[in-house]
Order: sequence, then C-alpha cells, then structure tokens
Amino acid sequence: MPSSLSLGRRLAVMLASTCLLSGNVCFAADKVSNFPPVKPEELREGSRLSPQILPEKYDLYFEPNFDNAEFEGSEVVYLDIQTASRTIKLNSLNLSVFDASIASREKGHGDFIKAEVSKDDQKQLVTLNFAKPLSPGRYELHLKFSGHLSEKLAGFYLSRFKDDKGKEHKIATTQMEPTDARRMFPCFDEPAFKAAFKVTCAIPTNMVAISNASQEFEKLDQRKDKKVVTFKATPAMSTYLFALVIGEFAPSKDVDVDGKKIRVWAPAGKQNLTGYALDTAAKLMPYYEKYFGVNYPFDKLDLIAVPDFSAGAMENFGAITFRETALLIDDNASTRAKMRVTGIIAHEMAHLWFGDLVTMKWWNDLWLNEAFATWMATKATEKLKPEWHNWDDFALSRASTLDSDGLLATRAVEYPVKSPEDAMEMFDEITYEKGGSLLRMLEMYLGEDKFQAGIQRYMQEHKFANATTGDLWQALSVESGSARVDVAELMKSWVYTPGCPLVTMTEGKSTAKKKGTVVTPVTISQERFLRGNVQPKGEKALWQIPVVLKGDSYSQKQVIDKESQAVSVNAASAPLFVNGMGNGFYRTRYSAEQLAKLQTVKKDFLNCAEKVSLASDVYSLAFSARTPIKNYLDYSLTMAGDNDPYVLSLLIGQTLSFEDFAAGEENAYAAYVRSRLKPQLANLGFEKKEGEAELISQLRGQLIKALGTVGQDPECMEFCRSKFDLYLAEDANLDPDLLSAIVNVVAYNGDQDDYARITQAFKLANTPEAYERNLGALCTFRQKELVTNSLDMVLTKDVRAQDGPRQIGRLLASSWGRTLAWQFLNQNWEALAKKFDAKHLPHLIEAAGNFNSEEDLKNLTEFVGRHPLPNGRRSVAKTIETVQIRLNFRQKQMPDLLKYLKEIK
Ligand code: BES
Ligand code: ZN
Repeated sequence: MPSSLSLGRRLAVMLASTCLLSGNVCFAADKVSNFPPVKPEELREGSRLSPQILPEKYDLYFEPNFDNAEFEGSEVVYLDIQTASRTIKLNSLNLSVFDASIASREKGHGDFIKAEVSKDDQKQLVTLNFAKPLSPGRYELHLKFSGHLSEKLAGFYLSRFKDDKGKEHKIATTQMEPTDARRMFPCFDEPAFKAAFKVTCAIPTNMVAISNASQEFEKLDQRKDKKVVTFKATPAMSTYLFALVIGEFAPSKDVDVDGKKIRVWAPAGKQNLTGYALDTAAKLMPYYEKYFGVNYPFDKLDLIAVPDFSAGAMENFGAITFRETALLIDDNASTRAKMRVTGIIAHEMAHLWFGDLVTMKWWNDLWLNEAFATWMATKATEKLKPEWHNWDDFALSRASTLDSDGLLATRAVEYPVKSPEDAMEMFDEITYEKGGSLLRMLEMYLGEDKFQAGIQRYMQEHKFANATTGDLWQALSVESGSARVDVAELMKSWVYTPGCPLVTMTEGKSTAKKKGTVVTPVTISQERFLRGNVQPKGEKALWQIPVVLKGDSYSQKQVIDKESQAVSVNAASAPLFVNGMGNGFYRTRYSAEQLAKLQTVKKDFLNCAEKVSLASDVYSLAFSARTPIKNYLDYSLTMAGDNDPYVLSLLIGQTLSFEDFAAGEENAYAAYVRSRLKPQLANLGFEKKEGEAELISQLRGQLIKALGTVGQDPECMEFCRSKFDLYLAEDANLDPDLLSAIVNVVAYNGDQDDYARITQAFKLANTPEAYERNLGALCTFRQKELVTNSLDMVLTKDVRAQDGPRQIGRLLASSWGRTLAWQFLNQNWEALAKKFDAKHLPHLIEAAGNFNSEEDLKNLTEFVGRHPLPNGRRSVAKTIETVQIRLNFRQKQMPDLLKYLKEIK
C-alpha cells in the first residue's frame, strides 16, 4: 500500500492491501451522478460569520472533570469590530454559554455591557445580542461555557488506555479539523479568522497538559488539588489547529534542533516506542526550514500518540497528534510500519508550513493543505530514505486515484463548500492524491528549482495569513523563469474540471531527413477518461496536458491542449511512450501493436514509475471492458517477469482483484495466482538475505500472503503454519516483514483454535503494530461463526471506535464476509452510528464498492436511500458507480477470463 495515504481514501485503499482483495476496483454505467465543472466565480464562500468582526486573540481557560466527563471553561476574546453591530455571532455546538459581556479596549477601558445569549445548534451558532449597537473599535468579549467531553473522536473528547496491570487511565484530548473547535469553546471557527491562542488549564496533578505553544508556568491549586498549567500565546493561527491534550503521558528524551525542542509523547509505559519518530522529526525539521525558506515559528514541537484517534494524524500547530500505529514503533517494526510512520510524520510536519503557517482561505481550497502535504511528504521521504523510492510508491497511489477520478461521480479538485459536512467530504483521494499528483506534474514541468522558488515566494507572501489557489499560481508564475509560464492558465483545467483525460497516440510513417535524422508524425488526442464509458452531455472537457514523449534515447516535452494535435517527433517511432517519467495525471491507451513494441523493448527502457503507469492503464482499460481482457493478461506476464518491487506489488493487487468474480472456480483461480506470483517467490526464497533491500523483504511478505491465501500454495501455507508459534510468542528473530503474511495465511486457512490464539495475541500485543495486525487478521478467518464473532466484537469494548469501521469494512469487502457483514450493518446501523465517529460512516459504505451482483447493488441503493449520509453523498455515488462498473466487467470480460483461467496448468 502506498505509505503516503490518508485515512479513508484511505479506508478503500487500506482495504485493498490489508484485506486480501485488490484495490483497483472498477467501472461503468449510465444512471450515475455527474458533477459538472466548477467555474472559479462559483466558488462562493460558505462563511456564516461576519467578515467585519475579527478575533485577534483568545485567552482560554479549561477545567475538565474526568469523573463526570464534563468540562468548564471561560474565555476572553479580543476583537476588532470594523462596522457598528448590535450582535456578535460565533460558532458554538453542544455548549452551554453564559455570562457574556463585552468592554471596549479603546482609550482605557470601557464598562462591561452584558449580552443576551441565543443559541442555535442547528446552525452551530451562538448569537450575542446587545441592547445598543457596538461602535467600531477594539473590544474584549468575556464568556463562560461548559460542555461534555465527547465519546466520539471530535472536539474535546475522552480517550482511555490500560496499563500493564489492566488499570484504566483517562485522557482528554482534541480533534478540531475541520469544524469541531466550536464544540469546545465558542469561536470564529473558520480558517480565515486567524488569532493568537493563550491557554490555561486546571488538571489532576498526576497528568500533563500539552498544547500548541510551550508551557509558560505551572502552579499547584491546593484548594482543588489540581495543577494549573499556563501556556505561552501562539502566533496567529486558525481554530481548526487548536490542540490541548491532557493525560498521563510520558515524553521521549528531547532533541534540540536549532533552539527548537522536539519531543514525542506516548501514553505512560510506551516511551520505549518513541525513538524512531523522534529521530525522523529531528531530521525533517531542518530539511523543511531550508526547503520553505521560512523558519518554524515555535520554540518546540510535540508529537503525541493518542490511543483513540479518528484520522491517522492531525497537524495542530506545534502539537501534532497521531494514532498510536502512526507514531509508536521500535526497531523491530516492519518496513511497512516504518514507511507509514515516516510518511505520516513527513506529511504532518509539511503542514506546519502548508496549512498552519499559510492556510487556505476557505475549505474549497483544502487541496492547498492536503495535496501539498502529500506531495511534500513524498519528496522529503525520498530524501530521508532514498532506498524506499517513494515517488515510485506514489505512482501506485496515483494509479488508483486515476480510477477514482475516472468515475462520473468524481468532482473537481477545487469544489464549493457550504456546510461542515461539505468540508468533511473534501478529505478524499481527489484532494490528496490527485492534488498531490498535479503538484508533482507541475513541479516536473517547471523544474524543481523554479517550483521551489515559487513555493518560497508563496510562503513569504502569505505566512501567518491565508491564501487561495490563485495566489499559489501567481507566486509560481513569477518564479517560472524568463519565458514566464502562465501557471493559472496551465492548471485551470486540472483544478476546475472533474475527471482526467485519456490520451491516445497514433504514429505515422517515419521519414529520413537529411543529415541522417528521422522524423515521425504523431497525433495525440484526448477525451475524458470514464470507466463507465459514458461521456456526460454538454461541452467536451479539454485539458492542458504536459506530455513527455519518450523514445529510445529521446524525450520531448509538449503541452497538448486540443482534442487532437499533430506533433512531429525527431526520431524513429518505435517504441514511443507518452507519459515519460510517469508523472502525468492521465490514462493512456496504446494499440496492441504499440503495446507489443513497449513490451519487447530493452529491459530498462521504462523506469519504475513509467511501468506502473503503463501497467495500471492497461489493467484499467481492460477492467472497463474497453480493451480485451487478453491484453491485460498478456501484459501481466511481462509484469510478472519484472524485478521492481513496486511493479510486482501492483501486479499482486491486480492479480487478486478478480477473486470475487471467480466464485465456483477457486482452484483455477488459485492456479492463476500461482502462475503470476510463484516464480518471483521462488527467486526470492523464504529467508531474508543478508544486506537485502527492505523493499525486497516487504515484497516477499506480500507474495507469501497472496500465495498462501487465495493462491493456496502448499509451500507458503506450510511455511506460515511452521512459524505460527514463534509468531504468537512475538519472537524477535522472525523477519518483521513476514509477520502479516504468517498470521493472515494461518487465519485464512485456520480454525476456531487459531482464532482464539490470535484473539489472545491481539489482547496482549506489545506494540500498536501487533495490536492492529492481529485485530485485522481476525477478519481473514472465513468460517461463518468466526466472521460473526469478528462482527459482534466491533460493538464490544474490545474494539475501539477508531478501529471498528475498518473491521467491518474488511469483511464487507471480502468474498467470505460480505453477506454477513452486510446483514450486520443493516441490523446494527443505529448502534454503529452511535459508536463511530461520523467521519467514518461513509467509509463503511465505500467498503461496499467490492459488491458485484445485481442484488448487492439493489440492496446497497436501498440502504443508502434509507440512511442518507450528509457527509458521504459523493462516497455513496462513487461506490454505486464502482459496483456498476464491476457488474459490467463481470458481464463483458469474465467469460474470457474464466476460459483463460481454466487453461492454466
Ligand atoms: N489534516 C489531516 C487530518 C484530518 C483528516 C482531519 C480528515 C480532519 C479530517 C491530516 O493532515 C492528514 O491528512 N492525515 C492523514 C495522514 C496522511 C499521512 C495522509 C490521515 O489521517 O489519514
Ligand atoms: Zn494532511
């Protein structure tokens, strides 16, 4: 799995890799939602607060009560009121607000004027009404409030952990993005209202408090037997970046990086797992300061592992919070865990600049945050760990995102946001991976140095403030060199048009010119890539596509902006590859003849990213039933002979992706899996070689897992069984990259007894990675009672709310768990919606994207009709379309595929 992915794009892609099924689901249909292009002028801001009342600073006080799960608070908000107003509106949700009064800060200090408070939780607003209009000027607003510590993973919420002795400890922590700061204190909860935050809290004496800024002082309140902690004021920042974490945490040692103190915090007892993260963060800090040309503005950075956490991590300015699995590992972690931790720290730390220092003005531009962090994390990881070839890893996530963007139900990168639910929906693969791919494409087009100069300019111009996509294009254009590039014009189609192009190239006859040169006329054409093969009505979309035509010792950059365009190539045509460097965000279609040339050309003609791009294009077109399945099956043999771990990882996913359609033909299908994957494992062997690259060990694990499960390869099954006792004993001599294979292969082929042993291992796990791996493996058992047990477990205390959706998703996406998981979902929806964070509910529906029968589709459609998800409308539309594409595949391609499978010996 691409290590750079965020949560739910997350869930779908995670499922593809952690479940045994592949990710590259799907295709076509006519009754699907279409989302039209966005006109920049239509990106109305969805703000509900007055732009004339500006917060400058919040003085905040909080006192959580762990016994009754409530908290009390008060605040002073320093305001600049720019036009006379009789009311002040702030965001507030599920809070009691009282004792509101205001005083002028002009010329000394005015008298306090009381306000009448009216709440509207529907609109998430509190309105303060004054008897007389407040004239323009500077004021201080005083408020008191109280609320509940939430059991959901949003706002100011409760988390818990158990120590070695099984004793439970409570934590109060925050998760504000996108719009949940309003659940903790009344505030101007929109990203453009930047202000300073100065926090004080009263907490139990055995706890610590961590917030955005560093601690200023601490004193004991003996009367209350509490510790009162005051933090310094932050620089100007948005509310969604506010953090306050209170609990029994223990720090790593601290590292001083140019006067900035970096620390990693873990729940008490887990400090031994902080070293890797600390080292990574300490290396990234100077790299980023240099890249951005702006220093990190705090004197400290805390990275905190929170036991219950909705996303993977959150970039609170100065106090980044993480899921335990995303931060806490030791040297014995798998390569995948190391990649994940590195990638996620790199992502969140990139946000300290992209997002925290310079923030999008409004949620429609979320991609300025998330796409940048995605792109930057890949770049930084490539620097830190070149042996991981992170841009090649990224090529895999780009490939799966192209399929998602090939749905009619996709949206443009920049998209109108009017409600909190709309804002939530923006955190998808279009924002992250498509956005990140576009930045990479542009970076390669402009050149890395010019791109960096543009970014530095953008940072300087907008630090401690907000920016729009237009501001970014402007800065990049200015730095684009003597032949100034109009970046806004170049990128317009990519940002405002939904979907992506499919590029076709036709070659004419090469002719010899004088002086021995050869010229080949080539025509390049584009159309919208739609996996359902149904073009929307209305104007045809056109993109400005920076293609890189690559021949043998030849490469030519060219922008294609017409439906069909003639290009003269100064070389003999064969072979010619369109997406040179593999960075283009588009699909390509080659004729069988062109493909044959590319397959027979010398081995290293294509680099890894190019091969991934080609292989995924070939697969995707076949899955869309646009080319014969045979094209793909032949091409997959070329992939099977490749040595690149990422090409093979893509092949594994593709190979397993037909499993659902081969019901009743399991043996033939298993033989197919072995035919594609066993020769590679035979080359690698079962044992790690000395000095072997981590990507190779990781690949070995992936191969054994695929072969020992769906591939039913006896050797792999025996190997995993023989290591199972050592596995359960958490034996340090086992190769960490084989652990997932061992436990999942045993589970896939295992029985009740194995289930009980893995359940025990889950409960006693020593690391977050082992905890997650064992929990996930419970979903790989195929017996009915065991599937039922894993489902029931989700509603018990044994499974945290943060992990439940993934468990159900795994089973829903699996051939063996689907029916039961679907029943479970139907019968328990209310209980699930109560236990899970609202953000996770759409991901449950996304897991149904692996459905593949008419009846499944009907059930799915009815279900989403009965249970509308305000923050999952697009997920639902995309999932339905995906299933339709699968049905189309089944109908059009499966007869040929089955015929092919049966011929495999
Ligand atoms: N800002 C997000 C966290 C977030 C996600 C908040 C969704 C609210 C809603 C954070 O920077 C992020 O993107 N986290 C990713 C991890 C990253 C490595 C892609 C995640 O949580 O999955
Ligand atoms: Zn992010």
